Amino acid sequence: MPADPRPLTAPVPDDFRAWHQVEAAALAHDRPGEPVPSQAAVEARLTAAGSRSRLVLWLVRGSGDEPVATATLRLFHEQRHLARFDVTVHPAHRRLGTGSRLLSTVTGAATDAGCRSLITEVTAGTAAEGFLATRDFLPALRLTWLRLALDEVPERVHRLPSAAHPGYRLTSWEGVVPDGLAESLVRAHQGMADMPTGEVDIGEARWDVARVREVAEAVARRGERLLTVAARCEADGSIAGYTELVLPADAAPRAQQYSTAVLPAHRGHGLGLWIKAEMLRLVRERHPHLTEITTDNADDNRHMLAVNTALGFRPLRRTVLYQLSPARR
Ligand SMILES: CC(C)(COP(=O)(O)OP(=O)(O)OC[C@H]1O[C@@H](n2cnc3c(N)ncnc32)[C@H](O)[C@@H]1OP(=O)(O)O)[C@@H](O)C(=O)NCCC(=O)NCCS
Repeated sequence: MPADPRPLTAPVPDDFRAWHQVEAAALAHDRPGEPVPSQAAVEARLTAAGSRSRLVLWLVRGSGDEPVATATLRLFHEQRHLARFDVTVHPAHRRLGTGSRLLSTVTGAATDAGCRSLITEVTAGTAAEGFLATRDFLPALRLTWLRLALDEVPERVHRLPSAAHPGYRLTSWEGVVPDGLAESLVRAHQGMADMPTGEVDIGEARWDVARVREVAEAVARRGERLLTVAARCEADGSIAGYTELVLPADAAPRAQQYSTAVLPAHRGHGLGLWIKAEMLRLVRERHPHLTEITTDNADDNRHMLAVNTALGFRPLRRTVLYQLSPARR
């Protein structure tokens, strides 16, 4: 019987090795064919400090010190009511109660931190759904993860960036937003407020200049880079829409889309497709080692889904965001 879960407060290299073993085995079992992140990428994700949230870690080992399970709990400093977690049990150690014990530990830690809402995203149709259902979690949002193979981008997409959009021009930057655009980017982030979030008790996400800078800095601390493309209004230079891509560290072949938004006043002009097509052009030109991009879409976000499909993204897997309903706690 594994030892009781205890928070991993000062992880040493052997802990990261153990963590990576659990994650790699679970990924091969639950999402076969998916690329397994390197141990360095796992370590960077677990240790990169964020000024907006903190991560609590648990690593469970068996009696022979073998890695059995991991859990993470992310506590947000501003949205204090909300916490996000993951529990992963090595496939060789499942159905023995470890997941349940870890989940109780995580739930207890979230309650102690004053959270009223606990969420996790799981792959649809896997053991996780049965597991969470027995613990009073309810589905709160259904998402589809999509993948774009960069050598399968349709020819017409390559021509999109040069199409004229009267009144707008394209701009891009890597890393932290240039000072002159920071306030405008804050307003554009606020423009994402109408993004579908299903039943998720997200609360109000406040955006300010410090936060937009922090997002790019947090990505950089993991050794990754944030590439942003924006459409600006010719009239006043303000940002009408933007899209963000996380470029991987250590020459990994897959980039991950972050947020994309077009402000309500500028919708219906094809700007979403334009900025994302420009992003693909930049990736081809500057980062030729990349072979694919992944993104996630809430299933009821029809417009974003239409843009991604037009670019050549195809469904990769379906996920469900489960929430421990406040009323049930
Ligand atoms: C989901 C997961 C954490 C469960 O871990 P576990 O140690 O096997 O869970 P437990 O042994 O505590 O199972 C508790 C109950 O959950 C349910 N359950 C677990 N696996 C199940 C499965 N494959 N099918 C149906 N129900 C399942 C059962 O009711 C089980 O009780 P039982 O074994 O007495 O029937 C594990 O399968 C896993 O790591 N999956 C990949 C990561 C993941 O998706 N995590 C999601 C949670 S954040």
